[in-house]
Amino acid sequence: MAVFLGIDIGTSGTKTLAVAEDGRILASATEEYPLSSPKPGWSEQEPEDWWQATIGTVRSVMRDARLGKGDIGGIGLSGQMHGSVFLDRDHNVIRPALLWNDQRTADECVQIEDLAGGREQLIGMVANPALTGFTAPKILWLRNHEPKNYERTVQVLLPKDYIRFRLTGTFATEVSDASGTLLLDVKQRAWCRPLLTKLDIDPGLLPDVYESEEVSGQLSGFASELLGINAGVPVVGGGGDQAAGAVGNGIVRRGVISATMGTSGVVFAHSDEVQIDPAGRVHTFCHAVRGKWHVMGVVLSAGGSLQWYRNQLCEQEVAIAKSMGVDPYELVSAQAATAPVGSEGLYFLPYLTGERTPHTDPDARAAWIGLSLRHGRAHLARSVMEGATYAMRDCLEIIDGMSIPIREIRLSGGGARSDLWRRMQADIYGSKVVTINAAEGPAYGGALLAAAGTGAYKNVVEACSATIEVVSKTLPNAKAKKAYNKFYPEYGALYQSLRDNFGRIGRLTSSS
Ligand code: XUL
Repeated sequence: MAVFLGIDIGTSGTKTLAVAEDGRILASATEEYPLSSPKPGWSEQEPEDWWQATIGTVRSVMRDARLGKGDIGGIGLSGQMHGSVFLDRDHNVIRPALLWNDQRTADECVQIEDLAGGREQLIGMVANPALTGFTAPKILWLRNHEPKNYERTVQVLLPKDYIRFRLTGTFATEVSDASGTLLLDVKQRAWCRPLLTKLDIDPGLLPDVYESEEVSGQLSGFASELLGINAGVPVVGGGGDQAAGAVGNGIVRRGVISATMGTSGVVFAHSDEVQIDPAGRVHTFCHAVRGKWHVMGVVLSAGGSLQWYRNQLCEQEVAIAKSMGVDPYELVSAQAATAPVGSEGLYFLPYLTGERTPHTDPDARAAWIGLSLRHGRAHLARSVMEGATYAMRDCLEIIDGMSIPIREIRLSGGGARSDLWRRMQADIYGSKVVTINAAEGPAYGGALLAAAGTGAYKNVVEACSATIEVVSKTLPNAKAKKAYNKFYPEYGALYQSLRDNFGRIGRLTSSS
């Protein structure tokens, strides 16, 4: 039985999985690396760190699963989306990569909309508006601010595609990750020549585009020596972390939606056609399933809000949890469970790092509203979880409004592990939620894409049906659902009331 490697180039580290053809995970390894923020709002990483972590994790799964050179049938890559690796003509990295959460490109976003002839025209060409995290604004930033580096650039690659280059020597990407560059004609699944012309970007800077399960290159002799895997092993397109994660969650059919609460929260819906939100609040990208698309809402600080609460305000709980040998989130969650539904009028807006969906507002900020003497730690904790979940419901509401059917919501990430958060999600979404047997996300999706692309399965849909199954179901509680339906509209109204204040506060802090 062949073994497939899924390699996910994440923001905090690289994770590699060795997965058997029948879906069993044989070994897993993760190596972390730093992120640097040389100026406020900047976020960068060294592509060489990704490569060293790839070598380290691949060697470790090969060793742990006792795999020989000839056991690997294919490799599938996944990675943090939108980042930019600039290469010179000797294929050396010119400067650290700008990442998906880098906010330096607000001016370039305005410039792109102007050059495209307006926001509507831009959405007409590439299905999405210009957002600071996307890749095209980063290319323009390099041209505007580091013209010497721009002149030296002969190739721009996304993070996982740089690793593909180191593995195979080929310059290639695939449709799901390429969608997040803002340079792909998402309908046609090819680079958008008219926009490249308007932005005066040489198409030669961009790699060839493949479907996610297509073979994009073969392991080179050099990489083969380093990794202990036969040269010539096929490397498939793979996917951006969200699309590959969706494959890993089996989100490959109409009606099945995922709600993933990691640091960020993502609501991801498969779509048989290109469906665009004219207001640009959710992203419309190509799916890692051939000829299909997806719509995705991104909440920047979902699980990240609870992480902030734990780190900043739960010193005592963390110490107690440590002495008991339990996860501090278990204590925080148990405390939150003692507060009533709706936290007795306490709301938390989870905009710690601004917001993408639905507000696309980098100045939005977090807040507790409605505090009174009645409120204690249990209310604080519960309101943070409720705020993050209301934000996820915002994404679901937009998707629902686009007439995309929502028949099953699959939970993953930290929000799926907590019993309280699973029940809260069922109550706030007003829908049955389920969990599945596979919890490994993007790296698992990468391995399934490799299995599908090298013939172990007919296609990725078949690979998912053979390996992924529902293991738990949670139904909403009728009373709690009714209460949340009453509280949720007020959550939305609070941002509207505070939007101008957030903007003014942002200007005050940047000018002081
Ligand atoms: C998706 C996005 C993040 C990054 C990092 O649009 O920005 O999911 O891919 O994980």
